[in-house]
Amino acid sequence: MPLCPMRQMLEEARKGGYGVGAYNVNNMEQIQAILAAAKETRSPVIIQASRGALEYSNLIYLKYLMLAAVEENPDIPIVLHLDHGPDLKLCKEAIALGFTSVMIDGSIDYEKKTPDGKHPARSFEDNIRVTKEVVDYAHARGVSVEGELGTLGGIEEETKTDQVLLTDPDQVEEFCKRTGVDALALAIGTSHGAYKFKHEPVLAMDLVTECRKRAPDTNFVMHGSSSVPQELVAEVNKYGGKLPGAMGVPIPSIQEAVKRGIQKINVDTDGRLVVTAAIRKVFVEKPGEFDPRKYLGPARDALAKLIASKMRDFGTAGHAGDYKPKTLAEMKAFYASRK
Ligand code: G3H
Ligand code: 13P
Ligand code: ZN
Repeated sequence: MPLCPMRQMLEEARKGGYGVGAYNVNNMEQIQAILAAAKETRSPVIIQASRGALEYSNLIYLKYLMLAAVEENPDIPIVLHLDHGPDLKLCKEAIALGFTSVMIDGSIDYEKKTPDGKHPARSFEDNIRVTKEVVDYAHARGVSVEGELGTLGGIEEETKTDQVLLTDPDQVEEFCKRTGVDALALAIGTSHGAYKFKHEPVLAMDLVTECRKRAPDTNFVMHGSSSVPQELVAEVNKYGGKLPGAMGVPIPSIQEAVKRGIQKINVDTDGRLVVTAAIRKVFVEKPGEFDPRKYLGPARDALAKLIASKMRDFGTAGHAGDYKPKTLAEMKAFYASRK
């Protein structure tokens, strides 16, 4: 089975009314765990690498680890996706590595910094300009593109900053038409990391419904979708970690978002937590252990278990055999026919 274009995988999910997890990877154990979960639950899967992950692995290592996963799992549709591409240059590099999908995070200007050290938000027009540039390049090669409207952050009063911009539904249709993106990340109040909310999760669910109405044929993405399970946080803390007050998006909220129109669900933090908990446990319980396989192995097993449960919760389980992935040549012809 060839690699799967992201557009096709998300369209299948939209038709089937389920979500597909996009799991961040940096190393062999994470890739193996995610694929083991996909195999066990018969799920299509998106494995995604951030700029940081590509730099950490010197690009080429991650490429071959991902391709090994594809070779080992010929009956699982797999998308290789660049997460939060900052510019056309990195998108081009990812496409050259063989990724079937890239995200251009045009909502943020990664080249500039505000006095507080953060990257400023881009204007609507600038976002369209940089996104369209990537779409033109990627579609000419059959590769899918994810764009973003709005920026991530909390919507509780005390976490509101001028960096947080929920997606404006009025802009969605125009953005999708003018850029031609295959998927669009909506900002509905989630944020990256283990500290998403101060007291309780607050998400703008109506915004998903509204965006779905405005752009019925677009695939929507929810970033910052880790649930930060409290038992995992307790496990990390029990074995010497310090994560006070960590909080994420509960699974029922993700399921509601999927019902209202989300197809792609981005998860990184939960994977980091489960791996950290497992490694800390071995270090505390077996202080004489120094073979990395003896702690990376249990970490890999724990991650596979966690991802398998997400695949069931998101509704992805059982859909691996629903369709035959299209080739990038077929996708290239499809995009050309729409011009
Ligand atoms: O979107 C952020 C992901 O969690 C990736 O994080 O940039 O530390 O690899 P990273
Ligand atoms: P989490 O930090 O909630 O796992 O979000 C990951 C993400 O959005 C990657 O793009
Ligand atoms: Zn993200």
